[in-house]
Amino acid sequence: MQMNDASVSIHLRGLRQRFGEQTVLDGIDLDVPAGTTLALLGPSGCGKSTLLKLLAGLLRPDEGCVMFGGETVADPSHCVPPEARDLGMVFQDYALWPHMTVAGNVSFPLEMRGVPRDERVAAVAQALARVGLEQMAARRPSALSGGQQQRVALARAIVARPRVLLFDEPLSNLDTQLRATLCDDIRTVLAQLGTTAVYVTHDRSEADALAHTIVTLAQGRVAQTVHR
Ligand SMILES: Nc1ncnc2c1ncn2[C@@H]1O[C@H](COP(=O)(O)OP(=O)(O)OP(=O)(O)O)[C@@H](O)[C@H]1O
Ligand SMILES: [Mg+2]
Repeated sequence: MQMNDASVSIHLRGLRQRFGEQTVLDGIDLDVPAGTTLALLGPSGCGKSTLLKLLAGLLRPDEGCVMFGGETVADPSHCVPPEARDLGMVFQDYALWPHMTVAGNVSFPLEMRGVPRDERVAAVAQALARVGLEQMAARRPSALSGGQQQRVALARAIVARPRVLLFDEPLSNLDTQLRATLCDDIRTVLAQLGTTAVYVTHDRSEADALAHTIVTLAQGRVAQTVHR
């Protein structure tokens, strides 16, 4: 594994999240060493996406804390917003902007960070090359297959070389064959970049293929941790 200088460890301590009467996460302690991938498994509704949202800064925990390295990025009294966490996200539904070209989509996180145009062009080309889409830069997302759209989402997530990558069932909308191919590609990209990653999936074989550690959630708690 090639370590990314910028990758960071993640630590969750006593994380609790309630929605009304329902306690969705009930005291989660987890550590993800820098540069490793943690897969999160568990039945529908067990709180996987909720945990990712807490990591992303889209939710503030009711109790406990989220740490990136030595920095507390969230606890009940403060919450660093997503754009200040230096992370990339890939969702099940791609979430591309339909009015932008592929290159425009991938360039967007760099524009948000104020990266100069020349550097943006080079970084976009490199990210598209990593996912095998160099030829598609000028297309709109609507002119791409589902697998290609998800590659664009992956390129967009990595283009700014974030410290942390979060994946929420990124392959669930794809057919079996494509899922295996993209899973391989994601593994290669993660290994090349050495980014710390948390990967939510329903699919045990995806978790096996990608993760250094596999954690199963049940009833709001960590039910099982397997180091591989
Ligand atoms: N904003 C919200 N308000 C109220 N309840 C919520 C909210 N977000 C999630 N929940 C509830 O929290 C529980 C966990 O949801 P979550 O989306 O984290 O599950 P999940 O493990 O990702 O499930 P799936 O595998 O189906 O995606 C569910 O019961 C859900 O209904
Ligand atoms: Mg979910």
